[in-house]
Amino acid sequence: MSPIVQRPDLGGPFPEHIAIIMDGNGRWATERGMPRVFGHREGVRSVREVTTECARMGVKSLTLYAFSEENWKRPGQEVTYLMRLLRVFMRRERKTLMDNDVRLRCIGRLDRLPAASLGALRETEALTADNDGMLLRLALSYGSRAEIADAARCMAEEARAGTLDPASIDEETLRAYLYDPTTPDPDLVIRTAGEMRVSNFLLWQLSYAEFYVTPSCWPEFRRDQLLGAMKEFASRRRKFGGLEEGDVAAASTESIEETT
Ligand code: FPP
Repeated sequence: MSPIVQRPDLGGPFPEHIAIIMDGNGRWATERGMPRVFGHREGVRSVREVTTECARMGVKSLTLYAFSEENWKRPGQEVTYLMRLLRVFMRRERKTLMDNDVRLRCIGRLDRLPAASLGALRETEALTADNDGMLLRLALSYGSRAEIADAARCMAEEARAGTLDPASIDEETLRAYLYDPTTPDPDLVIRTAGEMRVSNFLLWQLSYAEFYVTPSCWPEFRRDQLLGAMKEFASRRRKFGGLEEGDVAAASTESIEETT
């Protein structure tokens, strides 16, 4: 049975695709005198709550930056802990994903993940493949420059083999070689823990996304903060490089003499 989906009234446009840079687990734990991994464990609760709330609110896609290519440089113990957490999460959350009609898809250089974690991910992807509620994308061992480099290599190989005409390559061609070309770009990107950077996350896909940065660390980011970010999004004017209707009218009635 499909869960009841109820879109909140945000007073403006609804973000169909939300992407989140989950930051500040370590800081959250350190501030409480706890080891960093305690923050990751608490961060899993936020993953569960935000995923469930987004699914219930009718968000179509949610992309979570769970482990970057650069995160492999962290101390071995922390990496091992995160990989184990991922494996356990994949097994434990299957029921929640199924109950909320969520489909899982992972993006990134997944061949770098330990076999047990990758196996658990693949099993959950297969189990949830027919769910048609929200798409949950986990970016794992993910780096946007690596994604674009991987796409460029594939295109170059096809051009060499004669199956791709270099003269025909445009933006849509390149998009087709990215890890997940069919999911529409994020509308809203949220970053927790206050840093004002994109950290090699979805550089191609975030071209026109609205940014929302909160000082709250990821383990503190729950339903209320999520709704706050969505409301802020609803109040923004998105122009995609163009003009809104009122601005077009103003621009066309203003003569060059009037402006000089
Ligand atoms: C950033 O905090 C967070 C990460 C590198 C990993 C995110 C992982 C989780 C939320 C838990 C596991 C996720 C799943 C999907 C099971 P940080 O350690 O960089 O924090 P800091 O900037 O304060 O050091």
